[in-house]
Amino acid sequence: MGKITIQDILKKKGKSKIAMLTCYDYSFARILDEAGIDVVLVGDSLANVVLGLEETRRVSFGEMLNHTRAVAAGVENSLVVADMPFVSYQLRASRAVIYAKKFIACGAAAVKVEWFSANNNKDCVYVVKKLIAANIPVMGHIGLTPQTAHLLGGYKVQGKDMRAALNLLKQAKILEKLGVFSIVLECVPYQVARLITKQVRIPTIGIGAGKFCDGQVLVLYDMLGLYKKIRPKFVRMYKDLYIQTRSALRHYAVDVRHGKFPARFESFSIKKHELALLKRKIR
Ligand code: KIV
Repeated sequence: MGKITIQDILKKKGKSKIAMLTCYDYSFARILDEAGIDVVLVGDSLANVVLGLEETRRVSFGEMLNHTRAVAAGVENSLVVADMPFVSYQLRASRAVIYAKKFIACGAAAVKVEWFSANNNKDCVYVVKKLIAANIPVMGHIGLTPQTAHLLGGYKVQGKDMRAALNLLKQAKILEKLGVFSIVLECVPYQVARLITKQVRIPTIGIGAGKFCDGQVLVLYDMLGLYKKIRPKFVRMYKDLYIQTRSALRHYAVDVRHGKFPARFESFSIKKHELALLKRKIR
């Protein structure tokens, strides 16, 4: 498998499903890449699962940039997408291109932006237009958009009635027309996600949006059981690394306390005559 490009992702529509996961550091990035994950998203869920913050809106641009650099260093083939943090485009939309270029310079192939509307017209459409005009590939994100969840009635399923679903379809069509290369659908009824997927020519990638999307994404720390604070219904835990890691750490602590770690073969040694000289010196 060679380096995955935006064109490869576009071509997968209707042919093969896209596997995407979030990632925040070099070591996991190596594993995701080796496992053949198509798209690695440096998600702003970094705020919750790595930094322990309550809201994704609180993550800073510098934090996202550092983690993007680390992930890009670990990836050879997967497509790296950097999540634009709230502060980089929703606070001052006019600076979005400047920030996005820094992500690209750090090794991201594209950026992701959540749908938002602002009353000063500097909304999602404005931002996406500017980014695409600057030749920066963009992934959209509609449905439950955590950065503005407070405006959506909280962390709730979106598009549950005809009007709300139609509104999501409208957003997807607008994003497609603007030139985004894919759209994340978060917490949307599977029937609505299926309709949207059929209505757009670009791939949809679902999280809590059922099986009919063109691809799926999960938060890495959720699917590996590392983040226990909340467990949304749509998360499938493929391994419980929390339990396994805790057991390994307890084992380590017992070994240290009982002098069982480190063993001789895990230690360095000095030559006999050097040791003898040393001992004579300090006697
Ligand atoms: O930040 C994130 O983890 C995301 C995914 C939920 C798509 O945006």
